[in-house]
Amino acid sequence: MPEIPSSKRASNIEYAIRDVVVPATELEAQGHSIIKLNIGDPIAYPGLPTPSHMVEAFSDALSQGRNGYSPSYGIPELRDAIALDESKKGWNATANDVYVCHGVTEALQIVFQATLEDGDKVLAPGPHYPPYMAYPQMYGAETVEYELLSDAGWSLNFDDIESKMDESVRLFVLINPNNPTGSVAGSDDIKRLLSILAKWPNCILIADEIYDGLDFSGRQVSAASLSDSVPVLTMNGVSKVYYAPGWRIGYMAIHDPISSLAAVRDGIERILRSRLCASTPAQLGYLAGLQQDRTWMKQYSDTVKERRDVCLARISKIQGLEVQNPEGAFYMFVKLTDEKWSNDDKSFVLQLLHEQHVLVVHGSGFSSEKGKGHFRLVFLPDVDTLNIAFDRIDTFLQEHRIA
Ligand SMILES: Cc1ncc(COP(=O)(O)O)c(C=O)c1O
Repeated sequence: MPEIPSSKRASNIEYAIRDVVVPATELEAQGHSIIKLNIGDPIAYPGLPTPSHMVEAFSDALSQGRNGYSPSYGIPELRDAIALDESKKGWNATANDVYVCHGVTEALQIVFQATLEDGDKVLAPGPHYPPYMAYPQMYGAETVEYELLSDAGWSLNFDDIESKMDESVRLFVLINPNNPTGSVAGSDDIKRLLSILAKWPNCILIADEIYDGLDFSGRQVSAASLSDSVPVLTMNGVSKVYYAPGWRIGYMAIHDPISSLAAVRDGIERILRSRLCASTPAQLGYLAGLQQDRTWMKQYSDTVKERRDVCLARISKIQGLEVQNPEGAFYMFVKLTDEKWSNDDKSFVLQLLHEQHVLVVHGSGFSSEKGKGHFRLVFLPDVDTLNIAFDRIDTFLQEHRIA
């Protein structure tokens, strides 16, 4: 029988972070235990549970029968609470500017659907979180990477940005703190970026700030708070800083300083209405997180920072590895300096997995050009597990240097 084909859109999609899970699952089925440093899910690691008051609010919502559809743009109290939170970050957000989605992932798809036409471009950092490459092509657009400087803390290369801006760039993506590099853009960087984008009135800044509460530098700042002429769509949610990624709740917040977004807003609202709504009880869980005590966050972020520091100390002593200090999020993008691996990061990842049972993600999965010769490591496991992982990585590098 002839096979029924899938669409080209679907067959072009790659998601490196989960693609490497396939061989790991096979090894697990054979009885091996794998140290997983591949997935940015804090719940997968001990010591960072979703705060209990949020879990209670979610479960109370279920038992109180709040299981119906919610309004398409989000539960009004939640939109209010998010607007208040964004306002505290320095810009004048109102509940009407906030749209609650099934995670930032859904918000991004909606923004791409609402803005992109054939031939349009999205400028995204290289390396970047993979959906920024995968999704725009579904709407006929193309993602072009601008460079993050690999030997300058993965900071923005403004010359490269300037050279790549043109009329067809509809969306410019800033991920701050960044996944996969952990780099943070401070206010000087963002102001400089805004001054470039201001020359291109057809372009909207997507400020993906989903890791903003995991900033070890103190420099992270809301892009919307600094923009008085560039429209900004801020993305954030419950997944990372509120430690509940499986709830699938996030939002976009529209900052429209020169009133240029009425048509885009209308498009976004139409799409939101057509896909009904985000999960009602999960929205109420997030609401509790925003409204109740947040002092727990400091302890969580200190724990994550402590784990980062262990990784940095270990890497500094392992021949074959180098890393730029991540200033935020929970990732580091480690450079492979042995020639054998610097030209083939995917083989490094697969062989490390098979020989030492440690799972990381190949850098080329975050950008074939700007990510190659690196791997991404999630520094969320406890210190003992991280130390075992680094012992094994060290052994692996040594064995292959001799071979
Ligand atoms: C930069 C970035 N944006 C968005 C997401 C996904 O967010 P959500 O869970 O809200 O869909 C991730 C998840 O890893 C991410 O790293």
